[in-house]
Amino acid sequence: MKQREHFGSRFAVIAAMAGSAVGLGNIWRFPYILGEYGGAAFILVYMAACLVLALPIFYAESIIGRSSRSDTFGAMNKLAPGTPWRWVGLLTIISPLLLLGYYSVVGGWSVEYLFKSLSFSFTEVPAEEVPHFFGRFISSTWQPLFAHTAFMALVAGVVLGGVRNGIEKFSKLAMPALFILILVIVGYSLTLPGSFKGVEYLVKPDFSKLSADAIAAALGQAFFSLSLGVGTILTFSSYVKKEENLLVSGVGTAASDLLFAVIAAFAVIPAVFAAGLQPSGGPGLVFETLPYIFNKMGEGMPLLSTLVSSIFFVAILAAALTSAISMLEVGVAFLTDEWGMKRRSATLVLTFFCWSVGILCSLSFGPLADVKVLGLTFFDFLDHLCSDWLLPVGGLLFTTFVGWKMSKDKVRDEFTNGGTVNTRLFDTVYFLMRYVAPVGILVVFATNLLM
Ligand code: TRP
Repeated sequence: MKQREHFGSRFAVIAAMAGSAVGLGNIWRFPYILGEYGGAAFILVYMAACLVLALPIFYAESIIGRSSRSDTFGAMNKLAPGTPWRWVGLLTIISPLLLLGYYSVVGGWSVEYLFKSLSFSFTEVPAEEVPHFFGRFISSTWQPLFAHTAFMALVAGVVLGGVRNGIEKFSKLAMPALFILILVIVGYSLTLPGSFKGVEYLVKPDFSKLSADAIAAALGQAFFSLSLGVGTILTFSSYVKKEENLLVSGVGTAASDLLFAVIAAFAVIPAVFAAGLQPSGGPGLVFETLPYIFNKMGEGMPLLSTLVSSIFFVAILAAALTSAISMLEVGVAFLTDEWGMKRRSATLVLTFFCWSVGILCSLSFGPLADVKVLGLTFFDFLDHLCSDWLLPVGGLLFTTFVGWKMSKDKVRDEFTNGGTVNTRLFDTVYFLMRYVAPVGILVVFATNLLM
């Protein structure tokens, strides 16, 4: 059998995993949730959510992945042969592909906006015009399809390179670059007159806003932001060497994810306040409000505003790309491990699949806007199906598998590297995986269903 690829170093493991974790969830979702639920006070709740829910599930996936050294289907099949658990493995191969189908449409928007920015499209018109670009663009037929195609091609290009030469290399380059780019935007944003109100909004702890809603929001955000429930962390962990300390790579990933989210908040929110606007969530913030702000603030200085908005869209593109490759890799690992396909064919087949799903999603903002699945457009349907159902169910099944199906000795052995590291923490982590995380997911579930 051919040698399974491995990440080359601890930095590579964390760059790849943090690359998956840091994505659109950090750049547009976190800043706005942060403000909404009490600023600095929310960070504490969010950290608690990471500790009690997200990290235990992260470890469950890591343990399954590294102990089996297989794709999600193969892992379940190896660890619980002949049981229905392998269907769980199969489910979590399909869910990241559906996720990528619509994630890639948004990735395409960032490609398009980068081009728009670089070609001075934003500075040729009065700033007030800029927010209108978005609606016009996404409801058109061809442009978003080209952009989606370009984004999928970039994703496929990286995944074709393999674990070591594609994913690892790209993440080691993209993550530090992303960090610097976002810091540049923070610097710019904080120099805008009036931005301090945004800083106040982010740092003033308002404990009165910490309702049950805030807790549910923190749990859901931690779960999505750490890329849990679809076998991404499981698959990446199958490329982690046996000597690596799983506790450290998990904490490293979660800490980077939090760091990026907080920095993104300081890049985005102060600028919004400086322009006299209120932060709101969703694509509107990134694709309508921010280009408007960067333009307006750079009025009379087209070069400066072009530079700032281009940096911003390169950053979003990099963040989206490293997440997207992690979604594609789950299926590629399955086809290469289980069906013996070549990486090249596996990548191309799955890229074609996701690209096709993405076409429907992209068109659902325009020509197919009236085609509904259960009352939702394709894009919204897939978004709900993934975020509200497939991800939490996947996470619940993974942590249940480790907490209740695998033998405790095997779990301990994997987490402690045969009793050499983290031995004192094991019982706590095991308790979290077995009892606390499943309950946490049920809470996320219930709130998704009720809200
Ligand atoms: N975590 C990414 C974000 O914050 C999204 C993501 C990437 C993801 N891979 C995933 C979400 C796997 C769930 C599962 O944007």
